[in-house]
Amino acid sequence: MLFTAGGVHAAAELPQIKTSNGRHALFVDNKPYLILGIQTNNSTNYAAALKDVWPVAKLTQANTLSIPIAWEQIEPKEDHFDFSFVDYLIKDARRNNIRLILLWFATWKNNAPHYAPGWVKLDDKRFPRVVKPNGESLNSLSPLHSTTLEADKKAFRRLMAHLKKVDKKRTVIMVQVENEVGTYGAARDYSPTAEKRFQQAVPNELVTALNLPPGKWREVFGAAADESFHAYHIAKYCDAIAAASKAIYPLPMNVNVALRNPFNPGKPGQYASGGPTDNMLPIWKAAAPNIDLLSPDIYFRDYKTVSKVLELYSRPDNPLFVSEIGNDQPYARYFFATMGKQGIGFVPFGMDYTGYTNYPLGAPSYTPEAFQPFAEIYGLMAPWAHVWAALSFEKPTWGFAEPVDTQGQARKIWNAQASPEGTQPSPEDIQERAKNYTQRADMGLWDVEVTYGRPMFWTDPPKGNPVASGGALVAKLGDNQFLVTALHARVDIKPSEELKGQRSMHLRVEEGHFDSRGNWVFERVWNGDQTDWGLNFDAKHHLLKITMATY
Ligand code: DGJ
Repeated sequence: MLFTAGGVHAAAELPQIKTSNGRHALFVDNKPYLILGIQTNNSTNYAAALKDVWPVAKLTQANTLSIPIAWEQIEPKEDHFDFSFVDYLIKDARRNNIRLILLWFATWKNNAPHYAPGWVKLDDKRFPRVVKPNGESLNSLSPLHSTTLEADKKAFRRLMAHLKKVDKKRTVIMVQVENEVGTYGAARDYSPTAEKRFQQAVPNELVTALNLPPGKWREVFGAAADESFHAYHIAKYCDAIAAASKAIYPLPMNVNVALRNPFNPGKPGQYASGGPTDNMLPIWKAAAPNIDLLSPDIYFRDYKTVSKVLELYSRPDNPLFVSEIGNDQPYARYFFATMGKQGIGFVPFGMDYTGYTNYPLGAPSYTPEAFQPFAEIYGLMAPWAHVWAALSFEKPTWGFAEPVDTQGQARKIWNAQASPEGTQPSPEDIQERAKNYTQRADMGLWDVEVTYGRPMFWTDPPKGNPVASGGALVAKLGDNQFLVTALHARVDIKPSEELKGQRSMHLRVEEGHFDSRGNWVFERVWNGDQTDWGLNFDAKHHLLKITMATY
């Protein structure tokens, strides 16, 4: 704790996002912080429900809880504010030694204003809804009306002012503006007010930022004009809320994304039109500079699509933060892939015992067993998350998630390729099959190879784990020194092209851990069986510092 000279408590440093050389970190208490997050179910934002949250936080060793704060909850009557839940939550979080990300469920909660107060939802004149081309209105508020923006902004500003007053310890480290903004059922608002705006020129700031010639929306954006118009106005709306609130209390702010499928997107309105989907990122970045992060909510299960999403949302101008991901077993390993893209955090959704599952998006049950895959990974990371966050900010790092997808699929692929009964697959066959379960990266003088589904001993080829669960992390500490951890995987460090022809060895493989100040504490040396067949990891947690050499 910090004290001023007079012995009076000073406030802790404000959390902030820092970017340097295209790498990002979230700083909390002035140190890099890795969000090992869990998000509650949607209706867990009441004091009575919190008792069903903390046991999951404890089980998983999460350090951060994402939880809604509903507009209807803090301003049930216009201009009458009630922060009793916020106060209770902050105290309870501190008792449970966990930080908070507050999710502002307001104008948009997945397209609709469900969490807006009744006095908003029932007043279509003052707070108009999006109108379809046929004149029908949708249950999605239009971003074009200052009445709506001003009302939402007022409530959010009051929330931030309250946090500033009560949260000197910075238990709340980030605030999410709205929840999965955008509209289903139409690309944009087609009301007469909207039509008038649509026929005007695209605002100068936007064409300039995107380096496009001036003109009306259709002229500038062609077939993407309707969606671009909606995205620009929702982005401006969120930015206005963020800017006005940061003027009071500048916490990092994110907007989470109801993703479109990057390979098979469909039409705007089939997915949430106007949200920061991958095609709208340039517009959002130009129109919402006060939003620090556009963060994907991932409910695709397959490796290929998840990898693409992670790539799309980790950019020099956008730190990767997985603000939601399904809480079923196959999603857990994407933690490692997220870290491989310098992710600042990872948050499985629906992590409480309040009695709800969003299967088939997430897990089919809400039991400790269902949440165990996340506990396994967070348990590995919790003791040194601060060290990884600093390494990710400062050093080259890699992360790998097992690439073959669903339960048992790895074995099925292997078996489908099996040779006729009684014959042995040729060495070439085996090598070919092994490629499915092998990942490599060039780390300079050395390459790293990660393989899945092989015994710890001997050279058996990788066949994939029976359940896709493997992952690995590597940080480069020096030309010949690496920090490695993994689960359900074999990691081999091999000479790269640059060392071709030279013989190599593990000079020293130290197992150890980091103390709370980030100092390495030596435990033992791995040698013999533990290094002869690569570095083999099952569910047991190991952290290795490896020095390679040639001779
Ligand atoms: C994504 C939303 O952001 C969450 O609040 C939740 O509704 C899930 N979809 C589905 O459970």
